[in-house]
Amino acid sequence: MTMNHRVILASRPDGPPVEANFAVDPVPLRAIGDGEVLIQNLYVSLDAGFRNWMNEGSGDHILPAMELGAPVMGLTLGRVLESKNPAFAVADLLMSRIAWEEYSITDGSQHWLVNLPAGIDAPPSYHLGILGDTGMSAYFGLTDIGKLKPGETLLVSGAGGAVGSIAGQIGKLQGARVVGIAGSDAKCQRLIDELGYDAAVNYRGSTELGAAISAACPQGVDVYFDNIGGPLLQAAIDNINERARLILCGAISDYHTNKAAPGPNNLFQLVTNQATMSGLMCHHQIDRYDEARNQLMAWVASGQVRNIEYMSRGIERVGPAFCEMFQGKNFGKTVVQLAD
Ligand SMILES: NC(=O)c1ccc[n+]([C@@H]2O[C@H](COP(=O)([O-])OP(=O)(O)OC[C@H]3O[C@@H](n4cnc5c(N)ncnc54)[C@H](OP(=O)(O)O)[C@@H]3O)[C@@H](O)[C@H]2O)c1
Repeated sequence: MTMNHRVILASRPDGPPVEANFAVDPVPLRAIGDGEVLIQNLYVSLDAGFRNWMNEGSGDHILPAMELGAPVMGLTLGRVLESKNPAFAVADLLMSRIAWEEYSITDGSQHWLVNLPAGIDAPPSYHLGILGDTGMSAYFGLTDIGKLKPGETLLVSGAGGAVGSIAGQIGKLQGARVVGIAGSDAKCQRLIDELGYDAAVNYRGSTELGAAISAACPQGVDVYFDNIGGPLLQAAIDNINERARLILCGAISDYHTNKAAPGPNNLFQLVTNQATMSGLMCHHQIDRYDEARNQLMAWVASGQVRNIEYMSRGIERVGPAFCEMFQGKNFGKTVVQLAD
């Protein structure tokens, strides 16, 4: 009998997630019924935003709150092993918003399932990173909201993470001076050496973050790509130029709590600088994903953009790797491979 190893939510995180919040639970794999499809999940994409739905009562229009003892919801890339659903054929590769598990059985009605786009010559895991929500967020955030002009300064928080590592590289290609914010001196050095950032600020190494950003951005900040929110957003606002554009992609420093996060208390600077701050949800651009994928793959093929992965293997690594994102251990896109 084939066993399906699933990661269940053993307890709700109180603050950043810890390994004890997750447990691997083996259950026998059942046969599929009419209308169902059996997917073998090859990769699990770890996305910080899913921490939000681990809080009790956190459900919204995107996902219901995750249930204790039930498989943790997330994004996977899998292969169809068996299908009794005419919409999916054996060997199809699917991106799914489903569970952290080795095998998934679904009729598709409760889960988001899409076939991988055809004709792209890239390793499958790239569809979770640069060709997935990660790359789409970076691309549409900068093209639609940032609208960088050559010589302007782009500041990126979470600069060594999945979205940030792509956003910084796109900013360089658009002719900006690019400055990253990350959580250690070693990561800041990697931003410069491996991703081409012009300068980097270690937010953990500085008690005067606003002053450190000012020193790294002597011409001020024209575009701020925010993955973090909280005190980093406040410090960035203290350094904006006139007509700055602030791209709110995520707020990982606020995901730890189900209480309202304190807002920046310096928003009046948006008024005096006639700046704009805009939220971004990449899925709303789904009709334009091909445009973004073609451009990003062209940059990858020419060596102008690197898709960096923080890859590990095995279902037992899924929970720990998710926690590591909140500890800043990852560099690039966090992915766990479950099968070849
Ligand atoms: N809007 C959209 O459509 C969309 C789509 C995808 C992702 N996102 C968002 O984009 C953001 C980045 O996601 P990702 O998947 O690319 O994650 P990631 O950046 O790969 O990983 C998270 C990084 O955030 C930093 N971090 C963690 N806790 C922090 C804290 N309290 N304060 C400051 N930095 C902290 C860590 O790096 P350090 O070493 O620097 O601490 C860590 O490496 C998330 O907020 C996510 O929700 C939005």
